[in-house]
Amino acid sequence: SLQPTKDDRFTFGLWTVGWPARDPFGDATRPAVDVVESVHRLAELGAYGVTFHDDDVIPFGSDTAARDRHIKRFRAAVDETGLVVPMVTTNLFTHPVFKEGGLTANDREVRRFAMRKVMRNMDLAAELGAQTYVLWGGREGTEVDIAKDLIAALDRYAEAIDTLAAYSEARGYGLRFALEPKPNEPRGDIFLPTIGHAIAFIDKLEHAHLVGINPEVGHEQMSNLNYTHGIAEAIWLGKLFHIDLNGQHGPKFDQDLVFGHGDLLQAFSTVDLLENGGPQGGRAYDGPRHFDYKPMRTEDMDGVWRSAAANMRTYLLLKERAAAFRADPEVQEALAAARVPELRRPTLAEGETFEDLLADRSAFEDFDAETVAQRGAGVVRLDQLMLEHVLGAR
Ligand code: GCO
Ligand code: MN
Ligand code: MN
Ligand code: MN
Repeated sequence: SLQPTKDDRFTFGLWTVGWPARDPFGDATRPAVDVVESVHRLAELGAYGVTFHDDDVIPFGSDTAARDRHIKRFRAAVDETGLVVPMVTTNLFTHPVFKEGGLTANDREVRRFAMRKVMRNMDLAAELGAQTYVLWGGREGTEVDIAKDLIAALDRYAEAIDTLAAYSEARGYGLRFALEPKPNEPRGDIFLPTIGHAIAFIDKLEHAHLVGINPEVGHEQMSNLNYTHGIAEAIWLGKLFHIDLNGQHGPKFDQDLVFGHGDLLQAFSTVDLLENGGPQGGRAYDGPRHFDYKPMRTEDMDGVWRSAAANMRTYLLLKERAAAFRADPEVQEALAAARVPELRRPTLAEGETFEDLLADRSAFEDFDAETVAQRGAGVVRLDQLMLEHVLGAR
């Protein structure tokens, strides 16, 4: 069905529908949305949960009494609607204090404040039952490379994440941390710019087992990378802890379009991977399907709620199209003709060693590369079948 239900596990950042559409060139085109309203509207549309930065719910600088009031209102809305809060994150980018960085700022006082801000919101995340804590380092980076000790910055980044992980463990919060790569914007160059950079960084951490990634469609595409390939590697490594779905038209500023409203065919392969790409077929990722997009600045509030619904409907349409694609006997035949299933078969036979491979004359001495090179790979047939399924022509 194309009607989203809680079983679809669709979640939204409160900062998405709540964005008043202020950009570097122009004023807000919409009023700020009260989080209580967002929670109710998203629940009515069929969402499963919401996520937030501390400052989305509790304005920066609120005193303890005000903070408690904001949390109470938000919690009441969540409880009333039955939405869950599976992921929480920290705003370490809006306030001017973070202009030169948060966890990797040159100024040590800023770094210590940033850590405390994260820890405080981790307390709330745990209270709300979140399992994942996202760290997006929008201000962690440079415009001028010599203005930062780049190696020390990575040391400080690792120190911060290991300290936060240790805090979660000591308090029994059981959180898992998901680093969100992005190449640039707002900083000229951001640290851990791609999935690959982030995963390699995690390997050095003391708490590596608690740290994974939260890759965003548009962020990889801003780097001209293939998002589906990126998350496939993260899945393979057991590091896809969370996901930010949206749309982007190639390398340019971060567009944060509705999911599928950018590179549609890559959105199709992403959904197909998530839903059907598991090792035995079936789901390859079980976490929430989280949308991190921005309703276009041209839109009024009606357009905001339409765009929220569009994310979920597009995902469900692509899921339906992917199922139809896989169920099509002609597709199955074309997959077999393209030898796609053959890739699951290990290159060496069971128990076969490299000595056996060396002794197999058919693998080399008698192998006829010229003849084998003439086999077509059958890819264009699959490509067109996919396109026709995406277009609803089959
Ligand atoms: C961006 C990022 C953010 C993060 C969010 C969660 O480009 O602005 O995608 O939206 O996802 O801050 O930490
Ligand atoms: Mn983005
Ligand atoms: Mn974004
Ligand atoms: Mn994001």
